[in-house]
Amino acid sequence: MKKRRFITLAIETSCDETAAAVLEDGRNALSNVVFSQIEEHKVFGGVVPEIASRLHLDRINSVIDQALSEAGADLNDVDLIGVTQGPGLVGALLVGLAAAKGIAWAAEKPIVGVQHIQGHISANYIEHKDLAPPFLALVVSGGHTSIVDVKGYNEFEILGSTRDDAAGEAFDKVARVLGLGYPGGPKIEAAAKAGDPKAVMFKRVFLEKNSLDFSFSGVKTSVINYFNAEKRSGKTVDVADVAASFQQSVMDVIVAKTMLAVKRTGYGKVAAAGGVAANGLLRGMLARACDERGIRLCFPPLALCTDNAAMIGAAAYYKYREKGPDDLTLDAFPNLVL
Ligand code: KG4
Ligand code: ZN
Repeated sequence: MKKRRFITLAIETSCDETAAAVLEDGRNALSNVVFSQIEEHKVFGGVVPEIASRLHLDRINSVIDQALSEAGADLNDVDLIGVTQGPGLVGALLVGLAAAKGIAWAAEKPIVGVQHIQGHISANYIEHKDLAPPFLALVVSGGHTSIVDVKGYNEFEILGSTRDDAAGEAFDKVARVLGLGYPGGPKIEAAAKAGDPKAVMFKRVFLEKNSLDFSFSGVKTSVINYFNAEKRSGKTVDVADVAASFQQSVMDVIVAKTMLAVKRTGYGKVAAAGGVAANGLLRGMLARACDERGIRLCFPPLALCTDNAAMIGAAAYYKYREKGPDDLTLDAFPNLVL
């Protein structure tokens, strides 16, 4: 008799994407529905928390319905419900949690809360079916920049993190000043294609010798100051050059620190994750650096780099297998750590 598949329904609403997905056996995404709110937040130049919560509330049920129907499943087929518990915007998280808890209670299904960064790392399990811990993870998103020792599916040691802005946050803020719009990462990457990365030498901040921590607020401020000073002195600023130079300065630091962590841990596998991991320059630079050292490099496909629910489903599956279910008192934690 064919073994029955294990079906996970996953929900993610930590920021500005209302997302639901259905996974088979933790690694195979049968559906992955992402309803982005970017258009609604664009006019404000960033995510407005109350608008995010209201839009999640408006769309959550239809997104879940769509994820189930695209997977050819209904609630009876579901074995587990996984939902993002934090970190994120509390009002946004609560919408996903309330929906997940309602379904878990009514359909009598087990539920597990997922830490969002664990979700980003787990996106790699969907794309790379044989990837298993231990490995080194580089998590670069709008809210986080960390180098993580993934010792087990549920065991992590943070080797370094940003002390101020996350990489994606720096991209978003610089893009706003350059007049490129929101979200900044893809806009800067696109603008940089026509620019010279050596046009302006922005500082690379490495902090103390051998530190795996990051600091991006200094480079962000120098880009903004440079841009404003050039404009004030009446010069025409080449936005493409500034974008390319800024992007290069951030990626130089990220890649150097990731390789330092590789050396320190001795791991032969690196997995990148998070929205900034969609960046073509970063992907190319990491690929070259890993290739030179004979290290295996994993990336999720672009759609699984930015926020989505499939990654939450993969993390939920492994959490449930090792730790069992949570109960219905499950709560949202805006600063939940890995
Ligand atoms: O992982 P994500 O969707 O949400 C968070 O958990 O933060 O990441 C969003 C961040 C934004 O800051 C966005 O500007 C950045 O990822 N991002 C990029 C690119 N695509 C998205 N940054 C650089 N290059 C990109 N191509
Ligand atoms: Zn994220």
